[in-house]
Amino acid sequence: MSKIKFAIIGFGYIGKRHAEIIKGHPDCELLAVCDIASEKRAAADAFGVPAYSSAEELLKNTPDAQVVTVCTPNGLHAEHALLALRDKRHVVIEKPMGMTKAACEEVLFTSLQMSKLVFCVMQNRYSPTSVWLKEVIDKKLLGKIHMVQTNCYWNRDDRYYGKSAWKGSLELDGGPLFTQFSHFMDIMYWLFGDISDIEAKFADFNHQNNTEFEDSGYVNFKFINGGMGTFNYSTAVWDKNFESSITIIGEKGTVKVGGQYMEVAEYTHIEDYVMPELPPANPPNDYGIYKGSAANHHYIFENVVDTIRGNSTITTNALEGLKIVEIIERIYKRRNLKTIKGEK
Ligand SMILES: NC(=O)c1ccc[n+]([C@@H]2O[C@H](COP(=O)([O-])OP(=O)(O)OC[C@H]3O[C@@H](n4cnc5c(N)ncnc54)[C@H](O)[C@@H]3O)[C@@H](O)[C@H]2O)c1
Repeated sequence: MSKIKFAIIGFGYIGKRHAEIIKGHPDCELLAVCDIASEKRAAADAFGVPAYSSAEELLKNTPDAQVVTVCTPNGLHAEHALLALRDKRHVVIEKPMGMTKAACEEVLFTSLQMSKLVFCVMQNRYSPTSVWLKEVIDKKLLGKIHMVQTNCYWNRDDRYYGKSAWKGSLELDGGPLFTQFSHFMDIMYWLFGDISDIEAKFADFNHQNNTEFEDSGYVNFKFINGGMGTFNYSTAVWDKNFESSITIIGEKGTVKVGGQYMEVAEYTHIEDYVMPELPPANPPNDYGIYKGSAANHHYIFENVVDTIRGNSTITTNALEGLKIVEIIERIYKRRNLKTIKGEK
């Protein structure tokens, strides 16, 4: 069977990660990459593929690439996905799918018009604890859900923001809920569905000089399916990531999954239930000076291959990618950046 051919838009940290996985997959082939920065393009030599300086040039010179992966800053995802879809390519879009519901809708409509697939990257769904939690919730082992508390407390300081022109920018980054914590918003939505009655408080404790947005927030809401929840987050933690956890209080049991990115089943007490032994989790993505979310990207590419060959369906489809963006957009409507930043 012929290999699935890929091209990558944006060749920074995650673009290179995509390239490594594509190169390492027996059914995938990398044809080319592009990046506007010449020093980033130079890194393509190690993969033995051409590097172009724009997405348009990449598409023009790589007509055989069936799948284009979008690894540019958040604020460019929708634009690059649309370029590729209109050129009749399937797309893999790094998280978040876009930065507004309207932009994601355009991507979704275009994918339908062009009959092309959109894969959103939400690789934490593949973590053994996530797979297990999904089964526990879908089988209704906890009965009615009363309360869900998600806590994401990470460190992102000058060591992170100082290295990048787009990270910290309102237009291209958008804030911690888009860049750091959309994975955990996705897990919460995947397990419990949509939310309403959102209330929120935001603060900027130690990012006055390196971001245009808040570093911390307490968000509370109701779940449409019943129960209430909170999503508490911060990038103001000193020195290193502390935790990403979810605590679920249900009618018939209590569960807490914690660790740095929800990879440790810390507490389980469920009626008539024996906790199974879970497979080991993958380590977090390690960027040297800071750590990210689960190193599960290989599952995304397996899903792309399997879906294009008709053996599977998309793990995180465009509608789900859109929904996470829409929820974050609704939460951020409550943000007053001037007040948060202490401006008059
Ligand atoms: N799934 C995950 O766990 C995960 C982890 C890290 C980053 N990401 C996402 O991946 C994306 C990239 O993040 P990163 O950390 O690799 O950032 P990065 O800055 O290292 O890489 C982005 C690259 O895009 C390039 N670029 C900017 N504008 C461009 C344009 N118009 N055309 C072509 N290239 C352009 C930049 O020069 C840069 O090299 C972000 O959206 C981020 O949220 C996802």
